[in-house]
Amino acid sequence: MPDLHYENPELSALYELDNGWSADSDFYLALAGGPSTAAPKRILDLGCGTGLLADAYAALGHAVTAVDPAQAMLDVARRKPNGEKVEWVQSSAQAFRSDQRFDLIVMTGHAFQVLLEDDDILATFATMRKHLAPGGRIVFETRNPTIDWRNWWVDDIDLPLDGMIVRESRRFLSMENNRMSFELHYSFPDKVLVSASELLFLPRTAIEERLTASGLQVENVLGDWDGRPFDAAVSHEMIFTVPGD
Ligand SMILES: C[S@@+](CC[C@H](N)C(=O)[O-])C[C@H]1O[C@@H](n2cnc3c(N)ncnc32)[C@H](O)[C@@H]1O
Repeated sequence: MPDLHYENPELSALYELDNGWSADSDFYLALAGGPSTAAPKRILDLGCGTGLLADAYAALGHAVTAVDPAQAMLDVARRKPNGEKVEWVQSSAQAFRSDQRFDLIVMTGHAFQVLLEDDDILATFATMRKHLAPGGRIVFETRNPTIDWRNWWVDDIDLPLDGMIVRESRRFLSMENNRMSFELHYSFPDKVLVSASELLFLPRTAIEERLTASGLQVENVLGDWDGRPFDAAVSHEMIFTVPGD
């Protein structure tokens, strides 16, 4: 079950105020190439959320299938300018199945970290492998667990929506076995909604082991959206690129 902040329409409406277009979006968009009337790519976006990136791929003429289990996130996504050009599918990454094969498979916005159990990770890698076209590429990222995320993250942020301010406050609960538990408190003028969350912070080697066990090989691990290599001591991101056969 996705977290409340993905499932609740009042909270999915706030998502892009805190998670708008940024350097990671530029990075993922560039992977597909430019305006593509000559050679549109087939793109699978797993954990697409509110569809910011899927919409941008579709605007360039690519054929996009975008998958998310949270109805409220998909409802926002469908209203995007190019929403009618995207195939939206309500499903987890683990369970998604299609007869289509894709040139590019992405999992962005650290959606990979919502996969808490080994079985979920392996099932997601199986989905990726099964749907990758020959010569295609899988790209996803996760946060580097050596960074002190608890102190790095901003605790409170004010989100303006429809003439009101909603305060989002992060309450750290624990970090055990690479698993961070925290709550997001959303203070509306008339109520507070609390979303309990867990994210998994796996080290690079653990992810590489699971990719290998899934029949996938890492091509490259980048440490930032500017393309610099991953450095476990300082990089915030671990961006994995995995080629197809
Ligand atoms: C942090 S958001 C990222 C959304 C989007 N990719 C982005 O970059 O903004 C994580 C998304 O993963 C979705 N999600 C939760 N469980 C999932 C699963 N098992 N498979 C795929 N997506 C999942 C959530 O519903 C949410 O939309």
